[in-house]
Amino acid sequence: VSERVNRSITLVSRPKGLPIDSDFAMTERPIPRPAPGEVLVRNLYLSMDPWVRSAMSHPSMMPQTMVVPGDAVSRVIESKHPHFHPGDVVQGLLGWQDYAAAPWYALRRIDPRVAPISTALGILGGSGLTAWFGLFAVARIKPRDTVVISAAAGAVGSAAAQLAKLCGCRVIGITGSEEKVRYLVDDLGADAAVRYKTDPAWQSKLAVQCPFGVDVYFDNVGGRVSDAVFPMLSARARVAICGQIAEYARPIAATGPRWLGLVLGRRARVQGFLVTDFAPWFPQALHGLTAGLRAGLLRSRETIEQGLENAPRAFIGMLEGRNVGKQLVKLDDPFPRTCP
Ligand SMILES: NC(=O)c1ccc[n+]([C@@H]2O[C@H](COP(=O)([O-])OP(=O)(O)OC[C@H]3O[C@@H](n4cnc5c(N)ncnc54)[C@H](OP(=O)(O)O)[C@@H]3O)[C@@H](O)[C@H]2O)c1
Repeated sequence: VSERVNRSITLVSRPKGLPIDSDFAMTERPIPRPAPGEVLVRNLYLSMDPWVRSAMSHPSMMPQTMVVPGDAVSRVIESKHPHFHPGDVVQGLLGWQDYAAAPWYALRRIDPRVAPISTALGILGGSGLTAWFGLFAVARIKPRDTVVISAAAGAVGSAAAQLAKLCGCRVIGITGSEEKVRYLVDDLGADAAVRYKTDPAWQSKLAVQCPFGVDVYFDNVGGRVSDAVFPMLSARARVAICGQIAEYARPIAATGPRWLGLVLGRRARVQGFLVTDFAPWFPQALHGLTAGLRAGLLRSRETIEQGLENAPRAFIGMLEGRNVGKQLVKLDDPFPRTCP
């Protein structure tokens, strides 16, 4: 290893609401040495994930001195297990840092010939898998369903929008900006999209787009967006609660309209899920997602920030909605030979 220190980002103060730059600090520590059964990796791409904001409020999930957790795609530098070799590309929960030592069984091997390695954090990773299982296993979409997706232009949402279109659904996105509306409709083939942030008429426009109600609501955000969608549910609607990003920074959960009576009357099914519930079926889903990407049926868009020092800015930007598609941070690569 030619670099001498491991730079990492830690939390120095627990954010109230949206994090700010000064909540984070860069620390330098020795590069870890892998123990038997462990693998030393150099991180190449970091995934900016909304759940990390939730973790920041919970000392048990994220002690203050801890490196900010998060998924990464990385190159193996040294391996103390025969399953991996130097130069292999892997994905795992490796944190916001240059180097990490991880047990071999916590890493997934990535084949750089299949697709750009960054997609292992997006459409061919957690985001694509979450969309896949949320739609097919939780919401159980059918052709001609009207599917409404919140945070539709983000990583999970954009994958869900495309998969639902491929299944013959009518897809309506809820998103934050005109640029994202155009992306959803022009690039991803959504039937319509509405701007919840800047269009005061977005709720009535959504209702116009769903004349027979919402058969499936793929919810990434919760809060006032969901409060507007629930009254539009059709009879026997299915709601997949994927994420509640509007709530992650709140110290106390907000109260809104009480819609359980509405769920009863419409015989709706509301189900929360974690993508890890479906881990035994990841290989089949990744096979389908990879085939879709390689055939040009699925698109992958990424918003990439450069440099570990800019990870806090990228993370805050993602929470503010500045990303289109998957928000990543690309780290400087001291060994740029092998990876695309
Ligand atoms: N269940 C699971 O296993 C699982 C796995 C992965 C992710 N998730 C969840 O899925 C959701 C999307 O994750 P992602 O990684 O794909 O992130 P993402 O959608 O790429 O980025 C987050 C987006 O959320 C929107 N947003 C932020 N604050 C909001 C608010 N107060 N109200 C409405 N929208 C808001 C922003 O888009 P706009 O411009 O549209 O506001 C932002 O771009 C998150 O809630 C995440 O926790 C769940």
